[in-house]
Amino acid sequence: MAGHVAHLAVAASRQPGQQTRLGGAQIHIGDADLGKSELSGPRRQCLRHLLRKCLGPWLHLPLSLTPVLIHPPILESRTFSWPDEAACERFAAALAAEPALRRAGIELDGPLGAGKTTFVRHLLRALGVSGRIKSPTYTVVEPYQVNGLAVSHFDFYRFNDPREWEDAGFRELFAAPGLRLSEWADKARAVLPPPDLRLAIEPQDDDSRRVTALAGSALGQALLAAGARA
Ligand SMILES: Nc1ncnc2c1ncn2[C@@H]1O[C@H](COP(=O)(O)OP(=O)(O)OP(=O)(O)O)[C@@H](O)[C@H]1O
Ligand SMILES: [Mg+2]
Repeated sequence: MAGHVAHLAVAASRQPGQQTRLGGAQIHIGDADLGKSELSGPRRQCLRHLLRKCLGPWLHLPLSLTPVLIHPPILESRTFSWPDEAACERFAAALAAEPALRRAGIELDGPLGAGKTTFVRHLLRALGVSGRIKSPTYTVVEPYQVNGLAVSHFDFYRFNDPREWEDAGFRELFAAPGLRLSEWADKARAVLPPPDLRLAIEPQDDDSRRVTALAGSALGQALLAAGARA
C-alpha cells in the first residue's frame, strides 16, 4: 500500500494477532486490543502530538479504552516458517549472535499460546541466561543481567493503567541501554516507543508457526538479516 494516508475508523471486529497491513498509515478509534495502525516519520510524531492535544483526557482512561493506536514505521518485512520449536530456537540463536540485539527493542505479537514467551526463553538461553525464565504475565516485567547486557522482558497483557508506565519505572527501563522484549505491546501502544523489530507469530493448523518479521529501523533490518541466516 503506497503513501501515508491517515484513517479514522471504528475497529469493531479485529482480533488480537490479526495481520497488520503494511506501509499505510492508519489510526483506529476503538478498543486498543482490536485496532492496528501504522504511520511513519515526523508526520507520525506530529499527528501523535495533535491527537494527544485533542484527546488528552481520553489518554487517562485505562489503556484498554484508549482510543488511539499508532503503529511504528516499517522499513522491511520478511516471512519465516518455524515448523517446530527447534526452528524457533535456531532463529533466536541467530539473533542472539547479532551485536545489534544488545540495543534493540523487539515486539512479539500473536494470540495466546502463539510462542512469544517460548521465543524469548530461547533468546535468553542463547544469550547465556541459565536460571529460571518466568513469563512476566503477572509482574509485567522480568529483568535480566547477562554478560554485561541488561534485558527487560515485558508482557503487557495485564497492563491497563498508563500511570503504571511512569510509576513502575517502565519509561526508565525503555530509555536505558539494553535489550527490550515486549509481548502484547498493543496493550501499551499509547506509551511504547516504536520497536526495531516486530515478530508476529501465527500458529498454523499443523502446529507450525508462520512468522512475519517487520523491521522498523536499520537495527531491526540487521536483526532481520541475521534471522534469515538461521
Ligand atoms: N514453533 C513452534 N512450533 C510448535 N510449538 C511451539 C512453537 N513455538 C512454541 N510452541 C509451543 O507453543 C506453546 C507456546 O506457549 P507460550 O507461552 O510461548 O505462548 P505465548 O505466545 O507467550 O502466550 P501468551 O500470550 O499466553 O503469553 C508452548 O507450549 C511451546 O512449546
Ligand atoms: Mg507469553
